[in-house]
Amino acid sequence: MISFHTQYLKGFVNEEDIKKISPAVAKAHADLHGKKGKGSEFIGWLELPSQIQKNFLKELQSLAAQIQQHCDCLVSIGIGGSYLGIRAAMEFLGHASKIPVYYAGHNISSDYLYNLFETLKGKRPGVVVISKSGTTTEPAIAFRAVKKFLEAQCGPSELTKRIICVTDSKKGALRQIADKGGYRSFVIPDDVGGRFSVLTPVGLVPLALAGVDVQSLVEGAQKGQQEYKEADLNKNNCYRYAAIRNILYRKGKKIEVFSSFYPQAHYVGEWLKQLFGESEGKNGKGIFPASMIFSTDLHSMGQQMQEGERNIFETFIAMDKPQHDVLIPHEADNLDGFNYVADKSFDFVNKKAYEATAAAHFEGGVPNMTIGLCQADVFHLGHLFYFFEKAVAISGYLLGVNPFDQPGVEAYKKKMFALLCPPSFRSVP
Ligand code: PA5
Repeated sequence: MISFHTQYLKGFVNEEDIKKISPAVAKAHADLHGKKGKGSEFIGWLELPSQIQKNFLKELQSLAAQIQQHCDCLVSIGIGGSYLGIRAAMEFLGHASKIPVYYAGHNISSDYLYNLFETLKGKRPGVVVISKSGTTTEPAIAFRAVKKFLEAQCGPSELTKRIICVTDSKKGALRQIADKGGYRSFVIPDDVGGRFSVLTPVGLVPLALAGVDVQSLVEGAQKGQQEYKEADLNKNNCYRYAAIRNILYRKGKKIEVFSSFYPQAHYVGEWLKQLFGESEGKNGKGIFPASMIFSTDLHSMGQQMQEGERNIFETFIAMDKPQHDVLIPHEADNLDGFNYVADKSFDFVNKKAYEATAAAHFEGGVPNMTIGLCQADVFHLGHLFYFFEKAVAISGYLLGVNPFDQPGVEAYKKKMFALLCPPSFRSVP
C-alpha cells in the first residue's frame, strides 16, 4: 500500500482550493486517457504495466541466468531516462542484486571511466548499453571505451556473449551497431519517452540481469495503474498530489523538495528530479525539483529549509518498515548520555526524527506531504514509479505544458557539437 498524508498542508491548501481545481483535474484525466492532450503520442507508459507479457519476463529470467553464469558483474551504460530509473531501483533495493552493477555513459569524466576500468580489472563484466535515440554522446563514447576494454580483457569472440543493447527497433546508430555486431538486443517502444521508460526494457533488462525480481516490480506498477485510474481526485491520491502541487505553485511555492530519511531513496530523488524537471520546466514555468536525504542534509540544508525564503514545499518519501532494523546498544557507563534510546531500534529514532522534521518545517512555513510505502520492497517501488509517472502527467497538464517533450535539452548539445566538430564532419547528428 502507498499512503498519502496531508496534515501539514493546513492553512496552505484548503478544501475550497481542491474543489476549485477539480474540474481542471477531470479535464487533465480525460485528455490523458482520451489521448487528446499535448504530447499524447508519448503516453505508452500509461497502460504499459498491464501490457507486459509474462513470457517476456520469463525470457529475461533465463537470459539473467546465462549472464550471471558467464559474468561476475554488470556495466549499465546510459544517461537520463536510460540510467536513473535503473540506478534508483538498484540503490533502493540494496542487496537485491546477485551481481554488482556499475554505471557508465552518465557523464563524460575521464577520471570516472579510468577508475571504473581499474575496478573492472580481472573481472568478467556483462554490458547493457541503453539509448532510445541511439545517438546520445555520453553513452555512445562510453560504449566505445567499454567495448575496447572488454575486447582487450577477453578477446573479440566473447563480445556477443557479453553485450546486450536496448534501443529503438529501427532508428539510431545503436540499432546498427547491435545488428552489425550480432549483439542480443531489446526494443524500446516508440511511444514511451526516456524518463517514463523504467518499466520498458530500459529498466527491466538490466534489473533482471542483475537479479532483481522484475515480476514484482511490474506487479507493483500494475497495482498503481489500477489504483490511480479514477478521475475523481477525492478517490485518487495520485491526482490529489498533482492538484496540491499546482495549488501550492500558484500560491508562490516554486520549489519542491523531495525528502527522505532513507538513504536508499537517494536515487529515487534523482529520478524524480529528472521526471519533474524535464516534464514541467518549460515555457518559463515549472516547479523546481530538488531532493534531500535526511538526517544527513538536516545538518547542511536544514537551516535553509527551516528559515530561508518561504518559496518551498516538501514531499517526504517514507517507509513504514525498513528492509532491516538494527538496535542501539546499551552502555554501562552511559558517557554520551544516550542510554534513554538504548535497545530501541535505529528505525524508531529515524521515524521520530522524520515526525519532528515534518512538524518543524510546517511550523517554519514549509507545507509538506508524505507519500508512505508500507514496505521498502520491489513491489512498492513499482507502485511508486507509476504513482509519480501519472502524477507528473496530470501536474504538467494542470500547468499547461506538454509533459512529454524536452526541447530545452537540445540547446547545450548544439553548442557542444559546434565546439567539437563542424557539422560537415559529423556522421551522427
Ligand atoms: O527523458 C529523456 O528523454 C532523456 O533524459 C533521455 O532519456 C536521455 O537524454 C537519454 O536519451 P537516449 O536514451 O536517447 O540516449
